[in-house]
Amino acid sequence: MVTAIFPAAGQGKRMKASVNKVFLELMGKPILVHTLLAFSRCDAIDNLIVVVGADEVTFIKALLATVPGLKPYKVIAGSTERQYSIFNGLAQLNPATDVVLVHDGARPLVSCQIISAVVEEARKSGAAIAAVPAKDTIKIVDKGDLVEATPDRQSLWTVQTPQGFKKDVIVKAYQQAANDEFLGTDDSSLVERIGVRVKVVQGDYSNIKVTTPEDLLIAEAFMRDGVVAKVV
Ligand code: CTP
Ligand code: MG
Repeated sequence: MVTAIFPAAGQGKRMKASVNKVFLELMGKPILVHTLLAFSRCDAIDNLIVVVGADEVTFIKALLATVPGLKPYKVIAGSTERQYSIFNGLAQLNPATDVVLVHDGARPLVSCQIISAVVEEARKSGAAIAAVPAKDTIKIVDKGDLVEATPDRQSLWTVQTPQGFKKDVIVKAYQQAANDEFLGTDDSSLVERIGVRVKVVQGDYSNIKVTTPEDLLIAEAFMRDGVVAKVV
């Protein structure tokens, strides 16, 4: 059984909106609903765990009850960091789950093709993440705004979600991170530090995380153009 966990308990500070960005609407639907429907339309996924702010649980349950076509889901309370929100999600897994995907609630344009590829590779190698080659040259810059180094772009990838893992791998990685008080910015980094090799699966440049205000325009343009529909 494949379970997808959706961290959506952030505050969306960089979006500078008055509400959590995952509730902002694109083409008349909240971003989070687009995300959950993308996974619900994909055969590779069995059920969903939606992690939202403790004060949003009731409202989200009521909202999702009005959405037809969702796979079986739970709505649970998150915490102060993305990693802690996902940790809460892992505690709610069905015992039959053997593969876990983590996907940002704020990434509504994901295709079933990417989801399926991550599930397949996670099953095969234990850990897989969607990523795309970096388009820009990336610099390491010190605190005084001085360039320290220019890593070779050939080896740089921009990492996305979904990130998928065998259940035992992700549970062990999260437990170890909690024991060590390690805080990472993605799930893979927790798995890497317990010595598991993570396979990169080709993501999509349209699979953006809605983070700052201009991302709303970009996401809406992709949706209107049917980019996702084309690649599914
Ligand atoms: N997230 C979460 N719990 C947190 C923080 C973030 O579940 N304590 C979720 C967000 O809701 C989002 C995903 O993790 O879907 C990716 O995080 P990010 O894009 O950083 O979202 P926010 O933290 O909400 O935004 P910001 O950092 O701008 O405040
Ligand atoms: Mg954040």
